[in-house]
Amino acid sequence: MVLEKNKNRDASTLASRRAFLRFLAASPAVYVAGQALGQNVVDPYAPQVITRASDAINVFDFHEVAKQTFLPGHYTSMSLGSDDGGTLRANREGFNQVQLRIRRLVDVRNIDTSIELFGKRYPVPILLAPCGSHKAFHPEGELAVARAAKSRDVEQILSTVSSTSVEDVNAARGRPVWFQLYPDERWEATKALVERAEQAGCPVLVLTIDNIIRNRDALRRHRRDSNPDCQTCHASDAGIIPMKPMFKGLPERTGSRLFMDWDFVDRLKESTSMKLVLKGVVTAEDASLAIQHGVDGIIVSNHGGRAEDSGRSTIESLPEVVEAIAGRMPIIVDSGFRRGTDIIKALAMGADAIAIGRPYLWGLGAFGQEGVETVLDILKRELEIVMRQASTTRIDEISRKLIA
Ligand code: FNR
Repeated sequence: MVLEKNKNRDASTLASRRAFLRFLAASPAVYVAGQALGQNVVDPYAPQVITRASDAINVFDFHEVAKQTFLPGHYTSMSLGSDDGGTLRANREGFNQVQLRIRRLVDVRNIDTSIELFGKRYPVPILLAPCGSHKAFHPEGELAVARAAKSRDVEQILSTVSSTSVEDVNAARGRPVWFQLYPDERWEATKALVERAEQAGCPVLVLTIDNIIRNRDALRRHRRDSNPDCQTCHASDAGIIPMKPMFKGLPERTGSRLFMDWDFVDRLKESTSMKLVLKGVVTAEDASLAIQHGVDGIIVSNHGGRAEDSGRSTIESLPEVVEAIAGRMPIIVDSGFRRGTDIIKALAMGADAIAIGRPYLWGLGAFGQEGVETVLDILKRELEIVMRQASTTRIDEISRKLIA
């Protein structure tokens, strides 16, 4: 009897040892160790520095190019997070805490990734989040992004601090884009920006409510360590980086956003016929207030970890916002989306769409318009793969049941 027991234990120990060795053999660490020993193997997970957009396997390949081609100061300002970068890391790690329950045996030959937002149909549930100063990353800046948005028919949200005017971007996009607003304490300056966007035909105004004050160690340290002469390009009289075009002709601005409150949201809502979307909502309380104040949509965002170091990812914030909104307005979520699997998780948890920031900036910096297009194509392809794996043929079939 004892002998039999020992035999069983030995067999199970052996089986788990074998499983462990199999795991090790498949581990990227072994590939790297093999390389160090001179064996001809490569880490299959390591991103590659590519020379053509079409060579990209995933969006991280564009990041590798960005690391090599962006000016160091621009790379730091693009990649940084607030304080210690805890929220930046949490945004990626958050997706690992969410697991998918995969159903099988559904005919998934034909699938449809399209969605509807504010009465418009889009082929993919992906928007281009507002990011300032695209010309820091590529000479064609926002125009290259607008052309990519046009060719892939996705929504581009133009930043207040863009390096190209809303009128020029709208012309390149072929129709008015959504306009993101960084307001100013002086109402006249805010009003002028809003009126300009409205006159340009923008259908949606996105008010960013986070990032009112920030602590960016990485940028301060970069400035001190690398001693770059940023003023060569950035000084207003240098003429190399022109003044932000959306600020041209504006009444004097204070640059402060600390004044913002719900009265301001009301005032803004009354002053425009554009739909009003709040970007930066991460709690149920603020989501409920958004409903009370007649807001039209929400972007669950922590500014890609650049606003505050709360340590909380947007995928963790999403459920409480979804519950509070209860289907009463569209919910878009951004921060850390890099894979089709990230997208399906957010949709399953109740988001209507997601937005990306850095991935398209990497694509833009690396290969201009084609880089942005390829980033969108890769995310669409990955979303299609996981939709098929999960037996979902349409976006509205992606439900909470998909989450373990
Ligand atoms: C931003 N973001 C941003 N948001 C905004 O409302 N107005 C802006 O001008 C900017 N500018 C900006 C510049 C850069 C370089 C980055 C990386 C981001 C935030 C952006 O809209 C979005 O919330 C995040 O980028 C989403 O996170 P990921 O996709 O970059 O991880």
